[in-house]
Order: sequence, then structure tokens, then C-alpha cells
Amino acid sequence: TFSKHRLSFDIERCNLMKNQIVNLLSQNIDVLSSEEISQLIETPPKPEMGDFAFPCFRLAKSYHKAPPMIAQDLKDAIGDQAFLSEIKVIGGYLNFYVDKAQYAHQIIDKYNSTDNYGHSEQGEGKTICIDYSSPNVAKNFHVGHLRTTIIGNSLYKIFTKLGYKVVRINHLGDWGTQFGKLIVAYKKWGSREAVEEKGIQELMDIYVKFHEEAEKDDSLNDEARAWFLKMEQGDEEALEIWQWFRDISLKEFMRVYDILGMEFDSFAGESFYRDKTANVVKRLTDDGLLKESQGAMIVPLDKYDMPPCIVSKKDGSSIYATRDLAAILYRKETYNFERCLYVTGLEQKLHFAQVFKVIELMGNDYAKNLIHIPYGLVSLKSGKISSRKGNVIFAEDLLRESINKTTSIIDEKNPNIPDKEEVAKQVGIGAIIFNDLYNQRIKDVIFDWEKLLNFDGETGPYVQYTYARASSVLRKIGEVPDTIDYNLLTDEASIGLLKEIERYPQIIKDAADRYEPSVIARYSIDLAHAFNKFYHECQINVEDATTKYTRTNVVKIVRYIIKDALSLLGIQCPEQM
Ligand code: ARG
Repeated sequence: TFSKHRLSFDIERCNLMKNQIVNLLSQNIDVLSSEEISQLIETPPKPEMGDFAFPCFRLAKSYHKAPPMIAQDLKDAIGDQAFLSEIKVIGGYLNFYVDKAQYAHQIIDKYNSTDNYGHSEQGEGKTICIDYSSPNVAKNFHVGHLRTTIIGNSLYKIFTKLGYKVVRINHLGDWGTQFGKLIVAYKKWGSREAVEEKGIQELMDIYVKFHEEAEKDDSLNDEARAWFLKMEQGDEEALEIWQWFRDISLKEFMRVYDILGMEFDSFAGESFYRDKTANVVKRLTDDGLLKESQGAMIVPLDKYDMPPCIVSKKDGSSIYATRDLAAILYRKETYNFERCLYVTGLEQKLHFAQVFKVIELMGNDYAKNLIHIPYGLVSLKSGKISSRKGNVIFAEDLLRESINKTTSIIDEKNPNIPDKEEVAKQVGIGAIIFNDLYNQRIKDVIFDWEKLLNFDGETGPYVQYTYARASSVLRKIGEVPDTIDYNLLTDEASIGLLKEIERYPQIIKDAADRYEPSVIARYSIDLAHAFNKFYHECQINVEDATTKYTRTNVVKIVRYIIKDALSLLGIQCPEQM
């Protein structure tokens, strides 16, 4: 009697059972390593042929026997095993049939063996710095910054789950020649009232004005350079204006972080390194790496097929790269990171390649642990979102728009739910985050409201809805005893769901290895699909108490994992929606 539905069939995912089979085989085969055995194991072409098949052809030479005979010998040697319902020789293969109730038992035991399922010790004692978000003072927090914020935050959650200590660093763009320009612009065309009233928008407007005017009058650029130099030299007036612009900007940025519910451990931005760049220049000079070129100081990188890394300009002022060099030395010393990650758009690839190369040339072998994590562009489908002005899109407007749209959807679908405002916020924000993280980060993100707010699509709201459904089941049933009859979990839908439960720990590791939150986003959809299938096929609130509690206990597990997986993306789960 063959069971109709097989356990797996993506063998790699089915580690628990496969590992046991590999163990049994390797106890009885001395000419292959466990890894080799593991690699040889196949999925049989038809379900009635079992869950795993081990081909014996490669053993024929060593054992001087025909493969079917080898398979028979192995079968005899292995004997009866509790977790297998049958072992069968089929041609030159030894095929294994996993006992489904045993499988269910093992998975649920594995889940119950910890109160932080998916956690691992891999990060124990290690620190990872993540440099992300990092918007520019006096500029809008645009949708590109929204991406680095969302991706960086998710990586923070993922590595924390794996036991790492993670330092969240917001490397604010709060230093540089542009502030010289802003000061000139403010003094010529700005007013305290306008800046106080309109905030970043006003700073952007006068900045644009500066560039228009500088086209006609180049001396403005000289003035701007002079003001930035004053800033670098600690001039009081210059720093006072700069500090004010910074405070105003930070206040607006904090509003975005508040909406997203995200925090940082450090806001040490570019300005933090202004007194640390001289030391960089000194060290590079001592190491004999610096060269003068047209008055500027550079590290030539032509040997590595890159343009030189400029370290200081003609007037001695620092640039973006100088401050990044100083930041790396500082972070290594302060945090002794195992890795330092940089989440920015792909357009900064060369910048980081240059900076990391200079660190390497200075003799720091940790240069290999500096990792740029790029991502693609953002575009808006169906044109407009209501933004404050023209074509600049503020992340804050986008987030608010999503919350508003979600509010209308809820008003239509379920107007009487408790905490409607909070739910709309969690779902509206969740939809944006999920849409960002669902595809590989290097792919472009498209804002298509229809799509990202669709409660039935591959969306955040869909997964959140599945969570709310699981919560509602549990609310209805109330107190649940531990009762489980594993024989009641051998149908296709239950097994399919258990397989998803089994995968979760490995999914988190894969996401971390590849710096890809999308691995978790996709998994959460698979899990939600498997759960919804189970929900429709296996009635939960039935008369028979054993059946009811067995199934409810599975619902409890799934509910926990959905919430945990979404939290790794930075998404919250309302209990009702
Ligand atoms: N402020 C920069 C930008 O908006 C991003 C900074 C990234 N981090 C760094 N250490 N360079 O493009």
C-alpha cells in the first residue's frame, strides 16, 4: 500500500528526514563520505516510489556487485526503522518511505525544543555594524532612502535572530561642500521664518536657487567653498547655521522613523568624522600611499582598474570618501566588528570599492569584511502620489498615502474592528515594506498601489490577514491543551504545512548568508499559502476533541512563525483586520 502523497520533494528542504537517512547509509557504506551520500540522494520520479532514493551504481566498482544486490544488502543492514514505513529495492536504487506521523512528531518536537524557533548560536560573540538609511541633511528623505532603511532594518532583525550583536548606524549626510552653498544661499535669499515654517522644503528651494544663480555668477561657488572651509575650521557662525539646518532636518527624518517604528544605535554621520580625517591623511602619508595630483591628495588605484580615491581637495578640505575612511577606522576600533555592511543604491558601488581598497592597502585585512549591499531603483506605477512639490517624492508622503488608502479599504471591508487607526497603520506600512522586500533587493521596486495593497496577492496584507485568521481561530477555541495525535497530521495539507514549518530555521540562515530579506518574504507567502490550504481542507473547530486540539496546536505554531517572520522584515501583525 503506497501512500498517495509524498513528503517532500524538494529534498534540500527536508533536512530532518534526509539527515537520518544519510546517517543510516553512512553507517553501512565505508567508501563514501556523508556529504557524498547526501549529494547522491534523489527524489524518486513518482510518489508511489517513495520519498528518497539512493542510487547504488557508484558502489558497484568498490563492492564488485551489481547495484540491485548492493541495494538489497543495504536494506538488510538497515533493517526496520521507526521513522520509515518502508524501505524498498527498486532496480539499482534503495528507496525510502518516510512515516508521516513520525515526521509530524519530529517537526513538532523540533519546534517545541526551543522558545525562539529559528534562533541560532551562529552569531554568538560577534558584532555586525550595519550602515543604512543615512539620509542627507537639508534634502528630502526620498524613496531610495526608504529602501535602505527597510532593507537595513530587516538585516538588523535577521542577524539579531541569529545571535549577532548588531549596531545600527545612521551615517547621516551632514557634512560637505553643499553646506557651504546652503549657508551662502540662506544668507542671500533665505529667512529664518521661511526655514522654520517650511523646513527641508525651504532648504531645498534655496539650494536650487543657489545653483541657478551660480550658473550666472561663478564667484558664488568660491564663497560656498570658503564657508565650508570655515565649517571645517570650526568657525562659530558657520557651525551655528549648519547645526540649525541639521536639527530641522533630523526632526523630519525622525518622523519617518517613528511611522516605520525603526530605531538606530548611532547617528554618527559624516560630521562626526570631521576631526578624524586629518589622522586618515596622516596615516596614508606615513604608509606612502598618498600622491599629489593637481593640488589634491589622492590614492592611485589604476592597478586595480579604478579611478583614484581622492582624499583631500586643493584647499585641504575632506570629501565623502575621506569621511568614510575615517568611519571605518573608528568603527573597527569602537565596535571591533566581524563585518560592516553598507546598504546603499547600486550607484555607490565604485565609491565603496575604492574606499575598501584603500583600507586594504593600509594593511588592514579586515577590509574583506567590509561589504557593500546594493539595491535597485524605485519607480511609481500609475503616476502620482500626492507629494508636496513637483517631482520630489518624500518618503513620509508615500507612507501616509499608504495608510490613508488602507484606511479606506478597512472602512469598506471591516469598519468596526477595534483600534482601526493602528491596524491601518500596521497594514499600510506593512504593505510598503513587503513590496520592497518581496523581490531580490537588486531588482527595481515598483509602487503599484493596486498590487501592493491587494489582500489576496503576494503582499504584506495577505500574510497579515493569514495571521489574523490564525489568531481568530485561536480566540474562538480558547484554552488549548497540548494534546496531539500525530496520526491525524498525515494528510497532504497537514504534511505540506509541516514542511513549511520545518524550513523556517534554514530560511533565516539563507537570508542572512545572501543578505536577502526577500528569502523570508517569499517564505512567508509559502507558509501563508500552506496554512490557508490546511485551513480549508482540515476543519479545525470540530466535535472530536483530539482532532480539534491536534489541529489547533498546529495553528498555534504557524501563528507564531508568521509573526516572527514578518517581524524579521520589520512588519507588525494586527490580531484582527
Ligand atoms: N548619505 C548617503 C546618500 O544619501 C548614503 C551614505 C551611505 N553610507 C556611507 N557610509 N557612505 O547617498
